[in-house]
Amino acid sequence: MTALFNYKLKGTDGLARTGVISTPRGEIRTPAFMPVGTAATVKAMMPESVAATGADILLGNTYHLMLRPGAERVANLGGLHRFMNWQKPILTDSGGFQVMSLAGLRKLTEAGVTFRSHIDGSKHELTPERSMEIQRLLGSDIVMCFDECPALPASDKAVAESMQLSMRWAARSKEAFGDRPGHALFGIMQGGVAPELREESAAALTGIGFDGYAVGGLAVGEGQEAMFGVLDYAPGFLPEDKPRYLMGVGKPDDIVGAVKRGIDMMDCVLPSRSGRTGQAWTRRGQVNIKNARHQDDPRPLDEACSCPACRNYSRAYLHHVFRSQEMISGMLLTWHNLHYYQEIMAGMRAAIAARQFAAWEAAFHALRAEGDI
Ligand code: GUN
Ligand code: ZN
Repeated sequence: MTALFNYKLKGTDGLARTGVISTPRGEIRTPAFMPVGTAATVKAMMPESVAATGADILLGNTYHLMLRPGAERVANLGGLHRFMNWQKPILTDSGGFQVMSLAGLRKLTEAGVTFRSHIDGSKHELTPERSMEIQRLLGSDIVMCFDECPALPASDKAVAESMQLSMRWAARSKEAFGDRPGHALFGIMQGGVAPELREESAAALTGIGFDGYAVGGLAVGEGQEAMFGVLDYAPGFLPEDKPRYLMGVGKPDDIVGAVKRGIDMMDCVLPSRSGRTGQAWTRRGQVNIKNARHQDDPRPLDEACSCPACRNYSRAYLHHVFRSQEMISGMLLTWHNLHYYQEIMAGMRAAIAARQFAAWEAAFHALRAEGDI
């Protein structure tokens, strides 16, 4: 019998990997990009539209959903999949990272973290045990360990102590998660930009044993060069037969560089958030639709893109609706950006399977270097 949750590596090219994660809610083709649906919606998108872009899995957030509408309420309404009308897999982040970046008056102890809601100032507590309970109530398919991560730059001592606390929380997360066939629990590696701390963290996590392993604590202001520096060695500390997830990354070139270094999954608000602020990401780089140079341009955003924004609308129209603050502006640009991100992922999966990743990557960078013309 095959397990209800399993990862199958299908091909490699250099360090880049392609494979499939099987879950009871469907398959996740890797490398995979997960659109962010923080508050039980990928903003400006219908769930069927998100699926049409090629997404196999969404990310949801413990922190936001526990505050509003509340995990028990979602559970009573049939779980997050039913609540938001998304039947494919959902991965939920565990809350600690969001508390550190969003909540007010935080207090961190061995037990967990107490904080005030950024919405109404109400007081809450998150512990590894409560985070596992919330993610179970939501019905998450891939549950993340409860962790924390200092803002960089931080002293080596602060990074080491924070990582060690997260590893103790990882053990408690695993214990509290228990045995839930068809649901997966991922550990989160910490350790900042110090190789010996990353190795210590990976050893602690693999000793506990998880269904997948995330690389956390990156894209927190260290810059792409430092991030790639960590990704040059960190994935190598993790088991080859489990998926590796880089949390909170990134721009298109970050994603390509991460896959090249052995990452299988990523998530980022960038394509959806920037769609709402008039930023489009195309094969030729970033396009700011606010710019007056688009106001008489009858061409699509990207003539090679098959998304609805590019098939049916001109740059002049996209410029006009952004300037007029019409809701369709965020809808069309978000759709385009998510479509483009999924096209990058599909391109990388095919290139790795064909062992043509280097050529694919060279073409990706060459077109971006030409710029938007
Ligand atoms: N999202 C981006 N980075 C992180 C991290 O280090 N931990 C968690 N839980 N979520 C993240
Ligand atoms: Zn498009």
